[in-house]
Amino acid sequence: MLARTITHALVGLDARRVEVEAHLQNGLPAFAIVGLPDRACQEAKQRVRSGITSAELNWPDRRLTVNLAPAELRKEGSGFDLPIALAVLAASRQVTEESLRGHAAVGELALDGRVRPVAGVLAAAEGAKEQGLSRLFCAAASAPEAALAGIEPVPLHHLAEAASYLRGDWQPEPFDDAGELPAPEGLPDLADVRGQERARRALELAAAGGHNLLLAGPPGTGKTMLARRLTGILPPLTRDEALEVTRIHSVAGLLPPGRPLVTAPPFRAPHHTASAPAIVGGGSGPRPGEASLAHRGVLFLDELAEFPRPTLEALRQPLEDGAISIARVEGKAVFPARFQLVATMNLCPCGARGDPAAECSCSAQRLAAYRDKLSRALLDRFDLLVTVPRPRAVELAAAPSEASELARERVVAARERLRAQRISRTDGAEALLSRAVERLPLSARGRARVARVAATVASLAGAEQIEPEHLAEALSFRMPNELAVAA
Ligand SMILES: Nc1ncnc2c1ncn2[C@@H]1O[C@H](COP(=O)(O)OP(=O)(O)O)[C@@H](O)[C@H]1O
Ligand SMILES: [Mg+2]
Repeated sequence: MLARTITHALVGLDARRVEVEAHLQNGLPAFAIVGLPDRACQEAKQRVRSGITSAELNWPDRRLTVNLAPAELRKEGSGFDLPIALAVLAASRQVTEESLRGHAAVGELALDGRVRPVAGVLAAAEGAKEQGLSRLFCAAASAPEAALAGIEPVPLHHLAEAASYLRGDWQPEPFDDAGELPAPEGLPDLADVRGQERARRALELAAAGGHNLLLAGPPGTGKTMLARRLTGILPPLTRDEALEVTRIHSVAGLLPPGRPLVTAPPFRAPHHTASAPAIVGGGSGPRPGEASLAHRGVLFLDELAEFPRPTLEALRQPLEDGAISIARVEGKAVFPARFQLVATMNLCPCGARGDPAAECSCSAQRLAAYRDKLSRALLDRFDLLVTVPRPRAVELAAAPSEASELARERVVAARERLRAQRISRTDGAEALLSRAVERLPLSARGRARVARVAATVASLAGAEQIEPEHLAEALSFRMPNELAVAA
C-alpha cells in the first residue's frame, strides 16, 4: 500500500517540491527512509513512530519504506516529520489519501505527538501556494507565518488533530490574521548624543539615501552610540521588503514568536570574532549569514579593523551585487544581501590619533599593519567617512539634542522624493564633480557614489536640482584628512 504527501525542501530561500511516499509491504516490521535524508531527517523515524503511537493511532507493524523524491535533492532538518507521519497514516489506511489532496505539510514531531514549529515555514508556504495547493499543515505557532504566503494554514498542536481533521471530525478555528503589528518601541534615541553635529548629519544622510557609513575617531567619543541609533531614523519597510526580510529570518529560525512579519529594518551587529561563513553565509543548510540577515537594513561592524581581512574582503561582493550565492550540489542557493554597511574604527591601534589631548604611541609599523587591514577597495565602498572628535565639555553638559523622531520625519520625506523622481545636476555641480574626479582622484565607483550622496543631500534639502553646494557636501564626506593616509 502506497500513499503520498507533499512537502518542501529549501535550497537557500527556494522551496523545492518534495513528495513523501510511504510504502507498506508484508514482511518483518522495519522502517527505512530513503532519498538523501540528513541526520536530523533520518531521526524522523523515532519521532514519527513515537508520535503516531502517542496520538493513539496505530503503528503499522510491517515493512515500511519512506521515499523522499526527488532523490538527488538533499533533505535537511526535522520539518519532514509531519509529512512523513501523514503519509504513513494514509498508507496504513487510517486516513484516506483523498483527504490529503490539496494539502502540503511541514513540521517537527515531539515524541508525545505534539507538532513543533520549524524554520523556513514562510518559504515552504509560498512554495505550496505557487503549486496551487490550498492548505498547509503546520505547527500552530507557525500558522501566522504560513498565512503571510496567502495559503490557509491548518494549525496543529498535536498529530491527533491532523488525523481528526482528515477524517472530517475536527476543523481548526478559522485562522484570524492579527494584521500588522506596530513597530517595536524602545529603540535608543539620538537625543542622548551630545554634540557631534557632523556625525549626526552623516547618519541622517546615510538613513535617507541608504549609504554606507564609516565613523572613525578616538575611543569613547560616541561612535558606537551613534551607529546604534541609525535604525531609529530609518523608515519602516514596505510590505514587499518586509516579506523578503521575513523569508530570510524565517529560514534562519530567527522570527520572534508572535511577530510573523518583520516590519522594521533589521540591524545586525556581528562581533569581530564571528567566522566568515557566519557573516557572509554558507555552511550546511546553507544558512544565511549576517549580511543576508541585514538585508534591507543595517550591517554594523563595530571596530572594523578588528575583523579579519578575509571576512571584510568577502563582503565586497555582496556590497556590489546585493546578493550572495552559495554553490550547492542542487544548484546555487541565493540569499539576498542588500544591506547598508555601517562601521566604526579608531584611527590607530592605541586609539589616541585624532585626540588632541592624547599622544599616539603607535609605531609606524603598527600603524601601517592596522591600516593594511582595510583595503582601499573596501574603504572605497563607504560613501560617507566621518571623523568623530572628542566632544568638548560644554557639549557634553548641554541639554538633550534633537530627538530621532524629527530626523526620521526628514528622512522619510527625502526617501519619498528620491523614489519619486531622479534629480539632475546643474552645470555647476557637473563641473565640480568632473574637477573632483581629476583632483582627488575619484574612481569610477567613487564618482557614482559621490553623485548618489549629492542627490540625497539635495532631496533632504527639498531642492529641485543638485546644486554645487550639495555636491560639495557629498565630496566633503568622501575623504577626510585623517583618513586620507589610511586609504
Ligand atoms: N557625544 C556623546 N554624547 C553623549 N554621551 C557620549 C558621547 N560620546 C560618548 N558618550 C558616552 O560614552 C560612552 C561610550 O561611547 P561609545 O559610543 O561606546 O564610544 P566609541 O564607540 O566612540 O568608543 C557612551 O555610552 C556614552 O555614555
Ligand atoms: Mg565603540
